[in-house]
Amino acid sequence: MPSKAVQSDVSSRAFLRVQDGLNDLHAALSLYKSSEGQLTDYSFRLTFTNSNSKGVLMAQHVPSERSETDERVSGPSTLDVSRRTFLAGTAIAGAALGLRPAAAQNVAEQENPAELVDLKLRVNGVTRSLRLEPRVSLLDALREHLGLTGTKKGCNQGACGACTVHVNGARINSCLALAIMHQQDDITTIEGLAQGEALHPMQQAFIDHEGLQCGYCTPGQIMSGVACVREGHAQSDAQTREWMSGNVCRCGCYNGIVEAVRSVREAQG
Ligand code: FES
Ligand code: FES
Repeated sequence: MPSKAVQSDVSSRAFLRVQDGLNDLHAALSLYKSSEGQLTDYSFRLTFTNSNSKGVLMAQHVPSERSETDERVSGPSTLDVSRRTFLAGTAIAGAALGLRPAAAQNVAEQENPAELVDLKLRVNGVTRSLRLEPRVSLLDALREHLGLTGTKKGCNQGACGACTVHVNGARINSCLALAIMHQQDDITTIEGLAQGEALHPMQQAFIDHEGLQCGYCTPGQIMSGVACVREGHAQSDAQTREWMSGNVCRCGCYNGIVEAVRSVREAQG
């Protein structure tokens, strides 16, 4: 059945690549339906960027069931950026196109954990074993499966920086990364910064310079600040503000945050 092909494709073939760079967000969805109105194939491509990261998320398909005569319907969307939102949006799009209910149902079924995989993540120097759906984000793996709730979920779509962690020393938005793609990497979360009872200098600086109020954005700010100094992108307050602009603080503690980052950079010479 063509609809089954769609189902298996959606569930197991999502890839996320995170790199340094840019700022923009585009999503494009292509749906194919047969002359009988049955959903036969789809493809989805999301490109995102902010001050911290750039990436491409693609839900790929196996072009086996679609015939040349199938109609293609495509339309850009800039809202359906989370994986689950995308899947829900796909189901809605299917209904709007008059596709058979079974086709939309197949997409909705992707939210069930039908395909679990064993994987290992090295987090804060400790290798942890997990059994997850391939589509679980690194953020959800950390928070929901490893209990490392210091990393926060804000927007869940790469816009706020609350979920910032380090992967091999580089900062990324963990909400936009798939856990399964980081099995070979060293992942550091806010829980891994302190050395026993001794806070990391950036943690102490945020306290000393009152770089927080409610504290929700703070783990992400601190992880980003550590990386910003390490990258050499904290040479001036203006540069710090630019290179940490992907970390949003709804309490408006930016002055304290910049002072904290400056103090660490000056202490390091
Ligand atoms: S939760 Fe990841 S960027 Fe907002
Ligand atoms: S301290 Fe409240 S959002 Fe930053």
